Amino acid sequence: MDSIEPKPESLADEVAAFLADNGSRDPHSLFRRVRETEPVFRTPHGFLLTRFADAQALFADPRFGRHEQAKREYGPMGDAGLDQASMFSNLDGEEHRRIRMLVNKAFAPNVVKEWQPLVAKVVAGIMDRLEDRAAFDILADIGEPAAETTVCEIMGVPPDKYNECAGWGKVFINQNRVTGYSAEIKQIAVEAVRVASAYFDAFIEEKTRNPDDRFVSTLIRAQEGKDRLSRDELIKVLRFIILGGTDNTANQLANGMWHLLRHRDQWEMLKQRPELVVPAVEEMLRFETSGRGNPRVALEDIELSGTVIPKGSTAFTFVAAVNRDPERFPDPDRFDITRPPYMHLAFAYGPHMCIGNHMARLILRECLAALAARAPDIELEIEHPEWRTTWIRAMKGLPVRRNSLSASTARR
Ligand code: HEM
Repeated sequence: MDSIEPKPESLADEVAAFLADNGSRDPHSLFRRVRETEPVFRTPHGFLLTRFADAQALFADPRFGRHEQAKREYGPMGDAGLDQASMFSNLDGEEHRRIRMLVNKAFAPNVVKEWQPLVAKVVAGIMDRLEDRAAFDILADIGEPAAETTVCEIMGVPPDKYNECAGWGKVFINQNRVTGYSAEIKQIAVEAVRVASAYFDAFIEEKTRNPDDRFVSTLIRAQEGKDRLSRDELIKVLRFIILGGTDNTANQLANGMWHLLRHRDQWEMLKQRPELVVPAVEEMLRFETSGRGNPRVALEDIELSGTVIPKGSTAFTFVAAVNRDPERFPDPDRFDITRPPYMHLAFAYGPHMCIGNHMARLILRECLAALAARAPDIELEIEHPEWRTTWIRAMKGLPVRRNSLSASTARR
C-alpha cells in the first residue's frame, strides 16, 4: 500500500486552481493527467477520484457516508443548512433507503412512460415558438423551459411559479461543493430553503385536502406497509426534485448538443437515422456529463487504487472525468453516437443513483428528436461556450442559428 507521496507542484497547483475556478474550458486533459499520475489525488479539499471503478466504490460502498459530508457542507448555514443536510439524498443506509423506497413509487419506469405525451407536447410547444427565429439558445430557449415546464407540470406547480421554483434549485446546484459556499451565497441559500419550504408546505396542504392523480398526490399516498412520508420529509423531497430535476437536465441538453453540432457527421447521421436518438442521448450523457456526484466522507480507512483514504477524509469525484476512463470506455475521447450501451456514471450508481434518470432521458430524447426534425440546419454561433462553474459541467449558453431562415423573414 502506498503512502501518499507529494505530487509534482505543477499538477497539484493545477488541480487546486481548477477546484477554485469558475469553470474550465477543457477539464478533460487535466482529468486524464491526474488519472495517469495518481488516480486517487490528494487535494486541499479531500481526495479526488478519477477512475471509473473508484467512483463506483465512492457511490456504492457504505463505508463512504453522505450525511457526514452534507453536515460539513451545509452546517455553516445554521438551521437551514442542517435541514438541507437531512434531505433524503443526504442521508445514508436505512434512513435513506426508507424514504427512497417511498419516493421511487412516483418515478418508476411505468409511471414515467405515461409522461411521454406530456413531454412531447411541452417540447412541441417550445419548438413552435422558435419556428420563425433565425437564432436561439439551446440552453435558455429549449433545455431550461423543457426541463422546468415538465418537472413543474408533473408536480402540478402553476406556470407563474415555474421560474421561481427552478431558481431555488439553481442556488444550490451552482455552488462549488468542495471549496464551500461564500457568505453571500449562504444567505441566499438560507432564504431559498425558507421560501421553498413554505411554498411546498402550503402546496402539500392543498393536495392533501384536494387529492388528484398527479405526482404530489401519489407521493402523499405512497405507502410501504404502514409507513408514509411525513410532511417534513415530503417538503424536502419536493425541494430536492426541483433542485435535481431542472438545471441538470437543461445543462445536459446543451452539453450534448454542443458536441453533436461540432461533430457534424454525427448530427447528419442522427437526422438520417432518428432511432439513434436513444444511444445518442447516452453518448451525450457520457461524453460531457453535466451532473456531479456528491462528495462523501470515509467512515473508516478505505483503500482505493493502492492509496488509503484515511477515516474522516472527504472523497469526491467528477463524473465527467470517470466517464472518460479508458479502462472502461475504449477510445474515450471519441464522440460516437453509435457506441454500444456501456453503463456510464452520469446518474451515479448504487443506492443514491439518480431517481429521475428515466425522466431525464425522456426529456433529453424528446428535445433531441424535435431539434433534429424541426431545426435540422442549425449551426453553432460560438466555437467554445463559457462554462459556469467547475463543480458541475454547465455552460452559460449555447447560441445557434438556423441557415434556412433569411434575415428578412426571421425574428431573432
Ligand atoms: C441529465 C439530468 C440529470 C443528471 C445528470 C442527474 C444526476 C444525478 C446524480 C449524479 C445523482 C447522484 C448523486 C450522488 O449520489 O452523489 C442524482 C441523484 C438524484 N437525482 Fe438526478 N440527475 C438528473 C436529472 C434528474 C431529474 C429529472 C430528477 C427528478 C425529477 C432527478 C432527481 C434526483 C434525485 C431525487 C436524486 C437523489 C437520489 C437519492 O439520493 O437516492 N434528477 N442525480
